[in-house]
Amino acid sequence: MKKKIVTLCFIFLLCNINAQEKRGGNKDSKEEIKQKVASLLSKMTLKEKIGQMNQYNGFWNVTGPSPKEGDGAKKYDNLKSGQVGSMLNVRGVEEVRRVQKIAVEETRLGIPLIIGFDVIHGYKTISPIPLAEAASWDMDAIKKSAEVAAREAAASGINWTFAPMVDISRDARWGRVMEGAGEDTYLASKIAYARVKGFQGDNLSAVYTIAACAKHFAGYGFSESGRDYNTVDVGTATLRNVIFPPFKAAIDADVKTFMNSFNELNGVPATGNSFLQRDVLKGEWNYKGFVVSDWGSINEMIEHGYAENKTQASAIAVNAGSDMDMESYAYVNHLEALVCSGKVDVEKINDAVKRILTVKYELGLFDNPYLYCDEKREKEEIGSAKNQAEVLDMAKKSIVLLKNEKQLLPLPKKGQKIAVIGDLAQDKNSPLGSWRIAADDNTAVSVLEGLNAYKGNKISYEKGVVLAHGKTDFTLETKINKTDRAGIKEAVALAAKNDVVILVLGENGFQSGEGRSRTNLDLPGLQQELLEAVYKVNKNIVLVLMNGRPLAINWANENIPSIVEAWHLGTQSGNAIAQVLYGDYNPSGKLPMTFPKSVGQIPIYYNYKSTGRPKIPAPNMVFWSHYIDETNTPLYEFGYGLSYTNFKYSNLKLTKTYFKKGENITVSCTLTNTGKYEGKEVVQLYIQDKFASITRPVKELKGFKIISLKPGESKDVSFVIDEKLLQFYSANNKWEAEKGEFTVFLGGSSKTVLEDNFKLIN
Ligand code: BGC
Repeated sequence: MKKKIVTLCFIFLLCNINAQEKRGGNKDSKEEIKQKVASLLSKMTLKEKIGQMNQYNGFWNVTGPSPKEGDGAKKYDNLKSGQVGSMLNVRGVEEVRRVQKIAVEETRLGIPLIIGFDVIHGYKTISPIPLAEAASWDMDAIKKSAEVAAREAAASGINWTFAPMVDISRDARWGRVMEGAGEDTYLASKIAYARVKGFQGDNLSAVYTIAACAKHFAGYGFSESGRDYNTVDVGTATLRNVIFPPFKAAIDADVKTFMNSFNELNGVPATGNSFLQRDVLKGEWNYKGFVVSDWGSINEMIEHGYAENKTQASAIAVNAGSDMDMESYAYVNHLEALVCSGKVDVEKINDAVKRILTVKYELGLFDNPYLYCDEKREKEEIGSAKNQAEVLDMAKKSIVLLKNEKQLLPLPKKGQKIAVIGDLAQDKNSPLGSWRIAADDNTAVSVLEGLNAYKGNKISYEKGVVLAHGKTDFTLETKINKTDRAGIKEAVALAAKNDVVILVLGENGFQSGEGRSRTNLDLPGLQQELLEAVYKVNKNIVLVLMNGRPLAINWANENIPSIVEAWHLGTQSGNAIAQVLYGDYNPSGKLPMTFPKSVGQIPIYYNYKSTGRPKIPAPNMVFWSHYIDETNTPLYEFGYGLSYTNFKYSNLKLTKTYFKKGENITVSCTLTNTGKYEGKEVVQLYIQDKFASITRPVKELKGFKIISLKPGESKDVSFVIDEKLLQFYSANNKWEAEKGEFTVFLGGSSKTVLEDNFKLIN
């Protein structure tokens, strides 16, 4: 009988599908969803509730037979009996429809699955790595890029991305810096907001939006010595003032889910951390979405030495506020007994399930479980010309010009003999980065292809040295070529007979990302040797860098006239780079992360604390905060980046020299384009709170504006400073602005050029 009712309901549902797909799914108010969730919850058995808290990885070839035995079979049975609430890494309309059909048609209550996927920077049409996008400082572009990713993923059956990663990091050794927005809390918070809005849009149940996930809560970017998954030990001030704000910004953008983290934080694994998940997230911040664990992180609490077994790990995680178990098989196997024995209060389960069901309702999945399953849309949307144009735009905006001393750039479009050298110049895979699960291999436009699209010059190519041998995968580092110098001779010969050399060097796409920490930030393999050999015969070198993290390129900075930071720029990489090199796009990117001179300087960041001994007190004095073998200053500071034109900052004005709480002041300056090209400049506002109840950084970013100017043109640029902008988590354990003296700085990087002082009184 029950089966019959479910089938009838399903037929009714199918009839509605077409209409629903066009207008999007759910249109219920918050209150209506609340009632529906409560009503559904009251019908669920404990087992079914726990099922909603269970997430499995894709487990069988949905186009083939279902598994008959082993773990796969158990997962399959669990899916049929309603013990799975979500799946990840299932993609494509056909596959998604297959699993969704089981959830909807074959389980007692027909609750649809939420389908998650790591749509980190694009789905199939890949946009620049997030660190590169951050270099654009362009919130509209970043939001659009997330919209493209959401549109493609949603067209492929996916309705939930595990992005954005909003972890702040000051450590370029950590491979996952490529996935974040860099070192600065203010910039990263703006980006977190833009990316969540881009993924989720204003209507979550529209067919082109997906739920976002702020991760990894919290502290993951502060792993000791930059080694992935390592211990994190940070104090309250850093946690509150540096690490938390981008997560809070994601909540302000209405992010639907959070992911916790692999790391322990001050002795307690994030997954089992009640302070993080219950006290701060669901308490202080009153967060209503749900928290998914990271992959297997509930089980990992055993290795951490925090839980003795899976049963205890499950209890710790659920009590601490982890609502969904990603691939630990912990909740599905242990929670029921824990509730029955009274070790876990059923109200904790009810709360988790309510949160999960709410997001499913908001996505429109109850109105139409196949909302994201439309073959026609899948065909039209993925890789569309519009999406390609948008990722190309994002890629150009992400490029940072680091040096252009002899004005080698932009390149003349005619009459030049150009040698292109470097394995990465022809690489169609590396620009896609390591987080591009759905993209086909070798689908990026290479630099060589991008340059060859311009016909006026004579372009010749030599690889120089192979960067990595064999198929690039998880064992990449062992494949980096450190011995085979075979191509250097040919490269040098080619360089000698050309006017200009474009050397494309850096990291393979799989040298950054999860699990790819490095102890050394030089150009990998034999690339430095190649660079120096070429330099001996031709000094007109444009070095194009491709990398997923800051690199320590001191020699290049001293000797090479033009250096372009081109990161891993995604599908349209080569076109973006060529358009910048030829001046069809004037670069305006600014570094979102400090480039060190050596690994020994790490962690290195612009908003450091003064210390009690910041300056050399007298010549040859040794007792001050410094190194005896290196300066304290970075190679390229946060916020740095050049243009083909020049900008002059002048005329800093403050409307008042003091203001009271509740009032504000305006700081302004004049920006003039003194060069020959039209260009954009990111004007940056920094503030220092000179004396406070806890020591404050030497300066902190507090605003920025992108200003476009024609040659010779000037504009006044202003920022309003109010009490809110001066707030921090103080010694009183609250967000507040403390009265006193402040310095305000303006400039085109964190090495600012203008400054003045003001006071906050009362
Ligand atoms: C990563 C997460 C990711 C998850 C699912 C984990 O290893 O830390 O960021 O979302 O895998 O793929």
